[in-house]
Amino acid sequence: MNAAIDLLKSLYTMAMMVEARDAYTGGHLWRVSRFSMLLAQDAGLSAAEVKKVALGGFLHDLGKVGVPDAILNKRDKLTDEEYDIIKNHPQVGADLLSEHPLSALAIDAVLKHHEMPNGRGYPAGLSADDIPLVAKMVGIADAFDAMTSSRPYRAGMPIERALSIISDNLGSQFDEALGQRFIALGKQGKLDHIVGHSEPGIPMQACLACGPIIAVPRARKDGQTLYCPSCTTEYRLSRQGRQLSLSPTGFKNAAAARRPLVDQDLIADLVEEARQVLNVNRPSGSWLTRLWQ
Ligand SMILES: [Fe+2]
Repeated sequence: MNAAIDLLKSLYTMAMMVEARDAYTGGHLWRVSRFSMLLAQDAGLSAAEVKKVALGGFLHDLGKVGVPDAILNKRDKLTDEEYDIIKNHPQVGADLLSEHPLSALAIDAVLKHHEMPNGRGYPAGLSADDIPLVAKMVGIADAFDAMTSSRPYRAGMPIERALSIISDNLGSQFDEALGQRFIALGKQGKLDHIVGHSEPGIPMQACLACGPIIAVPRARKDGQTLYCPSCTTEYRLSRQGRQLSLSPTGFKNAAAARRPLVDQDLIADLVEEARQVLNVNRPSGSWLTRLWQ
């Protein structure tokens, strides 16, 4: 079992490595994982399936490792050719993951999270019945987070507005029944503690120039420095219990700002939480089976 836990940790670490490439998406994987997990719970999935959905949500964008920075971080409209390159990422993720011993736990989310019920998604243009539940859930969570997250060049949408866009696209872009569940969760305020956060109880902090795009790892202590990943402004963290705030030091530091702060505490929590998925989804007929004995 311990070896299986280590493999799970390697999956989360891989996902963090990919997220570290894109300085502006701090906390995205965690939020997508949490939104998908709440949706899975609400839909009545078993505890182990819920954890599998949470894992899929965290790993969904692994394939972005294959998208060049110039395209990944481009602010202007993408050309058709660039968009085609972005559209590679589900297949790239699935190819890279395919030989990992635990790939079966996440491959549906990785490969199919951009498929749409109307058949106009990618990479395969699957129709509604052929899209796995986990991929439909992660697809809704991913779109909602993209809409409600702030970027250096635009503020995140209010929750209400993002929910109404999901509502307008039920049955076409988003699974009708799951989308309705998600909207209900949002209207009940059950997504509020995730939107704009990078970890449980830790809201994204605002850069004075770029908005709330700074993720604070939980181990970051009072008095330590943090940087805006966009404009590279240096801030000093003030931490009084759960209360966080940043004050500018007057310096900028491009190198420090580009150094990702990997959150090992968060990975440890996620791995611990996902233990259950391993108990139920045991791969059979492989060397891995022995790890559970
Ligand atoms: Fe994606």
